[in-house]
Amino acid sequence: MTIKKIAVLTSGGDSQGMNAAVRAVVRSGLYYGLEVYGIQRGYQGLLNDDIFSMDLRSVGDIIQRGGTVLQSARCKEFMTPEGQQKGADILRKRGIDGLVVIGGDGSYHGANKLSKLGINTMALPGTIDNDISYTDFTIGFDTSVSIVVDAINKLRDTMSSHERSSIVEVMGRHCGDIALYAGLASGAETIIVPEVPFDMDEIAERMEQNFAHGKRHSIVIVAEGAGTGEDVAKQLVERCATLEPRVTVLGHIQRGGTPTPADRNLASRLGDFAVRMLISGESDKACGIIRNELVLTDIDKVVNSKKEFNVELYELAARLSQ
Ligand code: F6P
Repeated sequence: MTIKKIAVLTSGGDSQGMNAAVRAVVRSGLYYGLEVYGIQRGYQGLLNDDIFSMDLRSVGDIIQRGGTVLQSARCKEFMTPEGQQKGADILRKRGIDGLVVIGGDGSYHGANKLSKLGINTMALPGTIDNDISYTDFTIGFDTSVSIVVDAINKLRDTMSSHERSSIVEVMGRHCGDIALYAGLASGAETIIVPEVPFDMDEIAERMEQNFAHGKRHSIVIVAEGAGTGEDVAKQLVERCATLEPRVTVLGHIQRGGTPTPADRNLASRLGDFAVRMLISGESDKACGIIRNELVLTDIDKVVNSKKEFNVELYELAARLSQ
């Protein structure tokens, strides 16, 4: 079947670089002679038939912007078989034969369902969490890590002036990658992630010793999937009151701001790849990047596997933070 009309939507939590991905889908689609449509507010917009034609200028001046110009939503109705059928019917009625979905795990499930209902789909990893398997990195992850590292740089200044410890809670849902990569890049003494068991007695003792051996501050980075910053601080004080922990919850700040060049380039490559793969007849596939090579994997396989945690990096961070 020859693809003539494609649509693009962003879904789930937004991430920096989604706009660059939308731009790439639209401009590559037009370059290859397709009609391209945007769907506003993710799967909710699809069910509301909120679909509009896009041209070269509709994606001008967005490559540098965080958020998503198509907006995003989490849609309960689309999780039901009736909602999915309605979505497929709307796309068919409009003659749209290919759909690019940019989002996280939940968005992948939606694309998978639509493909089973006869719509050609491609899924792109748009989430700060880096929790999607069959891709080394997701769009937005690099920017989010940069934001955390920048925050820790600032915290180091004030913490070392007062010889305190800083507990930084970061996002990531069930995945510890933001904590891991930001922790390694900022020289955090302790990285607490859901993938690796931790012993609070050991952590408190090591922090105490480090202060005794001349360290002027201590940074503990905790992934939200492993616990809250408040809880970690409480447990540390119970073991050693002199650690004087101060908690910073970075929250949604991690999801905003201008995307890094790495995220813009990843988004541009993946967006273009998705369009080319749809044209070549592929469907129900997830686009990813592994060792800097673009790869295509069945969505089924991606949603049914858990991303592998990089234990080597985790151990490296521990060795370097003594
Ligand atoms: O999936 C992205 C993410 O930012 C997670 O890291 C976080 O747990 C969640 O979304 C927050 O969701 P919401 O924006 O709905 O509060």
